[in-house]
Amino acid sequence: MTAGGRGAARAPRAEETSPVSARQATVEDIDAIMRVEEDWPEDQRASRETMLVRLGKFREGFWVFEQAGAIIGTLTSCPIRYEPSGQKAFKSWDEVTNRGELPDIDLATANALYLVSGTLKREARGGRTYALLIETPVALAERLGLEYVVAGAKIPGYDAYCRRHGEIDARDYAFLKLNGSFVDPFLEMYRGYGFTVPDRDHVVKDFYPDIPSRNYGAIVVRKLDRSGRHDAP
Ligand SMILES: CC(C)(COP(=O)(O)OP(=O)(O)OC[C@H]1O[C@@H](n2cnc3c(N)ncnc32)[C@H](O)[C@@H]1OP(=O)(O)O)[C@@H](O)C(=O)NCCC(=O)NCCS
Repeated sequence: MTAGGRGAARAPRAEETSPVSARQATVEDIDAIMRVEEDWPEDQRASRETMLVRLGKFREGFWVFEQAGAIIGTLTSCPIRYEPSGQKAFKSWDEVTNRGELPDIDLATANALYLVSGTLKREARGGRTYALLIETPVALAERLGLEYVVAGAKIPGYDAYCRRHGEIDARDYAFLKLNGSFVDPFLEMYRGYGFTVPDRDHVVKDFYPDIPSRNYGAIVVRKLDRSGRHDAP
């Protein structure tokens, strides 16, 4: 709530009105990239070296998002092979991403673009900006002729839900809905961007260290419409 209260006239700040644009990151952006990274919890930040390795290995899938001349978000990704059968779901973020340094890029066998990290500066959160962060890799995946965009989502409402309502299996929690919306805020957010958790086997224990999620992660998948373009970038 602002000082003037709901409904009171307030001139919007520049950062609330100016459009957000996406562009491929460059090595020159590294200081700004690391400033955005500071808005991850401290123990989950990528190092400068890791970001530079990602830039070196797959710059095409590394974007910065700018608003009013400042970088307010970053997104990194890499092509991978995704098997829809849940039993072959990824075991951990470290495994999929090669501890954040990306696996070898092999577009001949890849069928999916994996979202390694997506971060907005705190002041840019709470709106629809993440929609742009998501649509940007979706467009790249379509250009590359890939079938899926995949991410490992935290389920940050899980621990609080169990404390309030009693213990429940994470694989049940991930599908709980209230009034048509997923109970978990991140799974509901990803649903709004066209991602689903295909089945219970896509809810993975010890996927990523995150106390509110009790270290669970949900593999969220957006299947692309492949009737579009298939041309190489
Ligand atoms: C992921 C991210 C870019 C999304 O930004 P956004 O679209 O503006 O969304 P928000 O940050 O408002 O989060 C979406 C919802 O999750 C909730 N949420 C976010 N972090 C949470 C946490 N640690 N615990 C509980 N709920 C959380 C928010 O309150 C919000 O819920 P609401 O819609 O009911 O208000 C941003 O949260 C971010 O940069 N987070 C840090 C990095 C991260 O977690 N990346 C994604 C890993 S899957």
